[in-house]
Amino acid sequence: MTSAISAHAEPSRPLTPEAIQALRARTPGVRTTVHFNHAGASLPSAGTLRAVQEHLQREAEQGPMEAGAASREQLEQARTLAARLLNAQPDEIALTPGNSAGWTTAFAALGPLHPGDRILVGRHEWGGNLAAMELAARRGGATVEMIASDDSGAVDPQALEAMLDERVRLIALTWLPANGGLINPAAAIGRVARRHGIPYFIDAAQAVGQLPIDVAQAGCDVLAGAGRKALRGPRGTGLLYVRRGFLARLAPACVDIHSAPLDPDGVPALRADAGRFEAAEHAPALHCGLANALREALDIGLDAIRARIDVVAQGLRAELAALPGVTVLDQGRERSGLVSFDVAGLDPQDVQRALAARGITIGSNGMPYTPLDMRARGLAQVARASVSYLTSDDEIDRLLQALKALPR
Ligand SMILES: Cc1ncc(COP(=O)(O)O)c(C=O)c1O
Repeated sequence: MTSAISAHAEPSRPLTPEAIQALRARTPGVRTTVHFNHAGASLPSAGTLRAVQEHLQREAEQGPMEAGAASREQLEQARTLAARLLNAQPDEIALTPGNSAGWTTAFAALGPLHPGDRILVGRHEWGGNLAAMELAARRGGATVEMIASDDSGAVDPQALEAMLDERVRLIALTWLPANGGLINPAAAIGRVARRHGIPYFIDAAQAVGQLPIDVAQAGCDVLAGAGRKALRGPRGTGLLYVRRGFLARLAPACVDIHSAPLDPDGVPALRADAGRFEAAEHAPALHCGLANALREALDIGLDAIRARIDVVAQGLRAELAALPGVTVLDQGRERSGLVSFDVAGLDPQDVQRALAARGITIGSNGMPYTPLDMRARGLAQVARASVSYLTSDDEIDRLLQALKALPR
């Protein structure tokens, strides 16, 4: 597990069956759904749900602005815990409404592109990031170019090295692709970026809460993560890490009273920390929930989470591969908890719908999410079953039985 970067924390204790049972008992959703869409959004714990509800209650009783003091403390806790999760400093963390909101805001803050500028991206880049890069490139006469992958499908650091010249403005990598189990070599790409002094952005939407992450080892300047996926935070939350030494290179396209307060002479002072990427108006209840989710993930330990997800995903892949007519589509030598597959003769969205009718949720990933990789592999849509450390043997059995019973 070389790209599961972990230098800053003590290895956590493996999750025992009893511990998993206890975590499931504190997750209301496992009683009502068989959830294999943790990569879309995972199931929050009862504690996270309570933290959100309690703050909404405080807002209703005290007045939403007046309840702010309690939430400010939670918000700062979320920032500190997020920093611990990533081995960063709290002033390098912005709390955002989602992965794309953070990533694209940081990208826009790099400033306009100019004719001849180049952006190099991995084949698995998230479609939303690609859209932002393509639009900026078209406006400025720049290009977005794909870095070749090796024969395992992972982005190849040597191919990246061979593409570099003085016109490269940015290297962008989606660490864990949305359309399958591959894990990209984020740290090896980071070493190339550092050696050449080129800005390096990581989309860690699927990695945050799933892998141990150390931003220093990853060598990135910016890393965006989602709260609602492996971290099990509320929807509408995200994290944005900006390396302290890189912050001055970024001028946010939009500011407000929080990110650039006016001094008594009316001069705006852009915040000196990552808070320059936050908005004054936000959802405090969600940050209370996020703080709780971060605390729980750190308590379990990211090594233990990664190890358990790996066991569950590998088991599921083997079982799926043994089913007649099912093909596992995952690439990569190292793999995540996202399991992509195809059922012969069935459209992945029909598979998703048929399973949903039996109370089993999976995802499906189409062209707009990971267009470069889907095109390169001749895929239009894949079915995606994504697991958590919460996933039980019984849930896997139910998924397999339901797949076997699909009318074909
Ligand atoms: C790799 C990746 N990046 C970005 C996103 C988008 O995240 P958000 O919806 O929080 O903007 C996703 C969502 O599935 C994703 O899988």
